[in-house]
Amino acid sequence: MIRARRENLGVHTLIRGDCARVLKRIAPRSVDVVVTSPPYNLGLAYRSYSDKMAEEDYLDWMEGVCSSLREVMRDDGSFFLNIAGSSAQPWLPFELMVRLRGLFVLQNHITWVKSISVGEVTHGHFKPVNSSRFVNRNHEHVFHLTKTGDVPVARLEAGVPFTDKSNITRRSHNIDRRCRGDTWFIPYETVRSRREKFSHPGTFPVALPEACLRLHGVHSETVLLDPFMGSGTSVIAAEKVGVRGIGIEADTSYVRVARDRLRAYLDAQKAGLDEN
Ligand SMILES: C[S@@+](CC[C@H](N)C(=O)[O-])C[C@H]1O[C@@H](n2cnc3c(N)ncnc32)[C@H](O)[C@@H]1O
Repeated sequence: MIRARRENLGVHTLIRGDCARVLKRIAPRSVDVVVTSPPYNLGLAYRSYSDKMAEEDYLDWMEGVCSSLREVMRDDGSFFLNIAGSSAQPWLPFELMVRLRGLFVLQNHITWVKSISVGEVTHGHFKPVNSSRFVNRNHEHVFHLTKTGDVPVARLEAGVPFTDKSNITRRSHNIDRRCRGDTWFIPYETVRSRREKFSHPGTFPVALPEACLRLHGVHSETVLLDPFMGSGTSVIAAEKVGVRGIGIEADTSYVRVARDRLRAYLDAQKAGLDEN
């Protein structure tokens, strides 16, 4: 068993430890938004975690973690759970959701599109599936879970401008903003420099947790929690939107990656501010 270790960077807290244990020590009803992507149990090659449990064991474990997440969430909090199946295990995300029915209401089901072909033009990137049976998997799920099912969300703040501006007056809107809906095209960022490269096998882009935070709605006191922090992407999103992030990660080397990424982000921001 590893002993939990925490460190603060800016307003954020990075904790190395097993989230199942660490969550028991977080104050009840203290977290506004949980954004996380747990291991999917599809056999991904993490450095220390073995991503291949018996399915029932995996579902029991995830149900336990999600039950602890419910305890630390405020009653008007949001839990954005990013998960995907595979061609061989297509039911897994849905099996998990059925397990979570006793804990949460499924308030919104968002599809994260990583790549899409519009006409003949393809946008974004995906890992091709080599198969004569299956098509490529270009999307993942983002399940928006809440305790009551009636948590107000910031549809317009997280929205997009109208393409046809005549809709603004025709449909009696007073701002050029509409709800973006439940299909989010968020491609992976292109790595531009060596400094931006880091080692983790299964990350999401910063824009994904950022969109979740914006949809929940943020203010200066908002607290984000990611119990499976990995390389720290959601804590960087928290910094980007100006809220406090808490990340928990079991693997020491991924905590180091998260710390280095967050530190580089904070330094870059500070350098930008100093220049202005
Ligand atoms: C899908 S990855 C998260 C990636 C993250 N969203 C990012 O963008 O970097 C899941 C992470 O959960 C970590 N993990 C596995 N079991 C854990 C546990 N019991 N407590 C905390 N972290 C755990 C793994 O080491 C892995 O880094």
